[in-house]
Amino acid sequence: MSGPPVVVVARVLPEPGLGLLEAAATVRSGALAVDRDELRARCAGAAALVTDVIVRVDDELLEACGPGLRVVANYAVGYDNVDVAACAARGVVVTNTPGVLVEATAELAMVLTLAALRRVGEAERDLRAGRWASWSPDGWVGRELRGATVGVVGPGRIGGRYAELVAAFGADVVYTSRRPRPDLDITLDARRVALDELLGASDVVSLHVPGGAGVVIDEAAVRRMRPGAVLVNTARGSLVDEAAVARALADGHLGAAGLDVFADEPRVSRALLTAPRAILLPHIGSATREARGAMAELVARNVLAVLCGEEPPTPVTP
Ligand code: GLV
Repeated sequence: MSGPPVVVVARVLPEPGLGLLEAAATVRSGALAVDRDELRARCAGAAALVTDVIVRVDDELLEACGPGLRVVANYAVGYDNVDVAACAARGVVVTNTPGVLVEATAELAMVLTLAALRRVGEAERDLRAGRWASWSPDGWVGRELRGATVGVVGPGRIGGRYAELVAAFGADVVYTSRRPRPDLDITLDARRVALDELLGASDVVSLHVPGGAGVVIDEAAVRRMRPGAVLVNTARGSLVDEAAVARALADGHLGAAGLDVFADEPRVSRALLTAPRAILLPHIGSATREARGAMAELVARNVLAVLCGEEPPTPVTP
């Protein structure tokens, strides 16, 4: 006799997603701290597995789920934590949550851009440490976004929205993209260039490509950036050689770095923690009430669609 399908939530899934799943399935949720052995045991017999950016979905976890697994629904737009090929080999559909976190993540990239240009992190740290002696004409002087050149690496949905936001502030936009983006060229007067040209031309370089494609900003790329330029990363930590960035902050080549993502989250290297002019955030790109709720709902809709034998709203193609 078959009962309701089992949905295993590897960590936690907020409302309204959880309620939608509980109405149709037996849901076994975990906790924020993941114990791999406990997770493997809980996964047995799952028809659906809900994961997030810090849950590694590999062959071993898929094996623990067993042959009834039909969908891995990632509570994130990025899915470099999921071995999509291994899922495909087992006939398991993978889904993610694109679209609904565009505004939140583009806004956070804006926050980091403006904070870096206006030296907000340093100024706040100095105030709290009692280093604000008096108003001074040359205290914490930054630069304006208006008139700056902003290089958008990967103007997909999030990068494209960020490009619109910086253009609305009066910045000139250049971008790298595999395909031409005549819409950006026309509406923002943006220009598609090669990465090397972007690095040499930009006052701000902001990353919006998926993780898993290797290091985009390595030592040579950092050194190709303009002296005093700002690096913003709201995509994935694996895109950046963090030691090279920390060195370039320390020796003054980089003006600032605004980083929301790190190679070994939640650990942040000592080099970055102690680097001057680094603004470091704990991976909060999609952390708005609007985005997180919509992501949870989309996860549930993806799971339920697959379990009903329908095409999920946002599948990942292998
Ligand atoms: C968060 O990093 C996401 O990919 O949604």
